[in-house]
Amino acid sequence: MQNMLPCSNLASAKHLISIKNLDRQALDHLMCLAKEAYHGKLQGSLKDKIIASCFFEASTRTRLSFEAAIHRLGASVIGFSDAQSTSFAQKGESLTDTIHMLNGYADAIIMRHFEVGSAERAAAVSAIPIVNAGDGANEHPSQTLLDLFTIEQKFNKIDGIKIAMVGDLRYGRTVHSLSYALMNYLDVTIYYVAPKALQIPDEILIKLKQKNVTVTCIEKLEQVLGLIDVLYMTRLQKERFTGNEQHKLEYVITAQMLKKQARNKMIVMHPLPRIHEVCTSVDATKYAWYFQQAKNGVYMRQAILYNLFFNSFIANHKAC
Ligand code: NCD
Repeated sequence: MQNMLPCSNLASAKHLISIKNLDRQALDHLMCLAKEAYHGKLQGSLKDKIIASCFFEASTRTRLSFEAAIHRLGASVIGFSDAQSTSFAQKGESLTDTIHMLNGYADAIIMRHFEVGSAERAAAVSAIPIVNAGDGANEHPSQTLLDLFTIEQKFNKIDGIKIAMVGDLRYGRTVHSLSYALMNYLDVTIYYVAPKALQIPDEILIKLKQKNVTVTCIEKLEQVLGLIDVLYMTRLQKERFTGNEQHKLEYVITAQMLKKQARNKMIVMHPLPRIHEVCTSVDATKYAWYFQQAKNGVYMRQAILYNLFFNSFIANHKAC
C-alpha cells in the first residue's frame, strides 16, 4: 500500500495526506475495510488508542463522522473543533509545535487546516499518523474515499462510471481529490461543469489526459444531465477567494429537472453543505444520495483509522 506508508525519516507512522499516493490496491483495500465497518466488524478494534481530532477550520460532517468512527472503534478522542480557543490562534504557537506536542498525547492525529500543504508539513514532524481532513483548497482524501465507497455501493463498481462534477471546481478540494482517485479506474468519463473562472485546475486535466481518462470541460449542465451515472454537485467556496475576487454559480438542480432528463439509475452526490445548488425537492426522490454519502463517512473513516494501525482484515478478504 502506498501513501499509508512508513514516513521516510520518522519511525513507522503511516499517514493519509494525499489521495494521489493511494494506488488501486490501496483503494480496494480501504473499500473492503469500509464494508467490514458497515457490517460492524471493526467495532471495538482500537480500544487502547487515543485519537486527536484537531480542526483549525470549520467542519460538521468530517469532524463528527470521524469522531463517531472513533467511538465505534472503541478508541478515545481528544481535540478541538474551534482553533480559536487554542494557543495556535491565541498565542502564535506554530503548527509544527502543536503537532510535536500532540505526539506525546495521542496515537494518531486527524487534522483540518486552512493552508494548502499543512497536512504534509505536519506529517514531516510527526512520528504518529496524520490524517488530512482537508488542507485549504488542496485535497480532502477521506471525503474521496467515502465518495468512492458510495459510488461502489450504488453501482457495484467504479470502472466505467460517467460522472459530472459541477460548481466551484477551482477551489473545491473534494473534486480535486476525487479526480486524482478516478485515475485509478478503467474507462472513466468525467464532465467538468463550471464557469471558466472556476474550472478544474490545468494540472489535474493534464494528469487525467496522461491516464487516458475521457474528460470534457463545459459550462452548461443541461448538456450532460442525461448522459451520466453520478451528478457530483459542489458549492461556491467563497471563503477561499483571494483579494476582491467575485464569482457566482448558477447551477440549481431540481426534482423536476431530474425527472425529465436524468437516467433512471443516476445518483446525485454532494459533499455538503449545500447552499442552493441542490433544491430540497430532490431530497425525496430516488436520485438523492447525499445523506447516504454523509452516513458512509462513518464507515469509511473507521476503515481509514483502523488501517493506520493494522493491515490485515478482520474477516476473510473474499467476504468483500
Ligand atoms: C467539504 C469540504 O470541507 O471541503 N465538506 C465536507 O467535508 N463534507 C465541501 C465544502 O465545504 O463545500
